[in-house]
Amino acid sequence: MKILGIACSPRKGKATYSALSRALSAASEVSNSIETVIIDLAGLDIRGCIACGHCVKALECSQKDDFSGLIATLSDTSVRGMLIATPVYFGSMSSLCKAFLDRSVMFRRNGFLWRDRLGGVIAVGGFRNGGQEVTIQAVQAALLIQDMVIVGDGTPGAHLGGTVWSGHPGAEDGDGIKTSEAVGRRVAEVALKLGV
Ligand SMILES: Cc1cc2nc3c(=O)[nH]c(=O)nc-3n(C[C@H](O)[C@H](O)[C@H](O)COP(=O)(O)O)c2cc1C
Repeated sequence: MKILGIACSPRKGKATYSALSRALSAASEVSNSIETVIIDLAGLDIRGCIACGHCVKALECSQKDDFSGLIATLSDTSVRGMLIATPVYFGSMSSLCKAFLDRSVMFRRNGFLWRDRLGGVIAVGGFRNGGQEVTIQAVQAALLIQDMVIVGDGTPGAHLGGTVWSGHPGAEDGDGIKTSEAVGRRVAEVALKLGV
C-alpha cells in the first residue's frame, strides 16, 4: 500500500517538507509493504477552485494548471493513507494548502475516491504556539468531508497530529519532529489494521 505525503509550503525543502519527510520515513518503517510518495507543492501553480462545476461530470478540471498533473497520483487506489503538512499562515493553513484541498473536491464528486483513506496532519509554525493545532483541525475538516478516517499522533502522546516550531533555537524542534514521526506511524499502523 502507498502513503502519500503532500508538502504545502510554497518554499522548497524547508521546515514543512522536512517534517513531512521524517513522518513518511517513520511510516515506511512500520512495514515493508508500505511505499511512501511525496508530492511537493512548492513551485507548482495551483489556483483556487472557481466553482465552475466542470468536475461534477468528470475527473478533470477546467483550469489548466499544475493540479492536472497530480490527479492520477491522487486517485491511485493503492494509496491508503495521506499525510498533509502545511505551514501555519495567520493561524491557519497556507493558501497553497487550501487551494489544493479545494481543488480536490473532484475526488469527492467522482465517487468519493479518498473514502476510508487514513489522514494525518502536520502543521509547522514559526512560533511555538502560533496556531498549529487550529491549523491541523482546519485541514482535518477537509479530510473528513472527503470521508477519510482521521488519526492524530497516537499513544502515548495521542494529540492532534504533528506540531512543529520552525523557529526553535536548537538545530531542530526535536519534540515537534517526534509528533510528526508519530502521526506518520499512526497513519501506517491504522491503515494496516483496517486492511483497506
Ligand atoms: C504570511 C505568513 C503568515 C504566517 N503566520 C504565522 C502564524 O500565524 N503562526 C506561526 O507560528 N507562524 C506563522 N508564519 C511563519 C511560518 O509558519 C513559518 O515560517 C514556517 O516555518 C513556514 O514553513 P516553511 O518553513 O516550510 O516554509 C507565517 C509566515 C507567513 C509567510
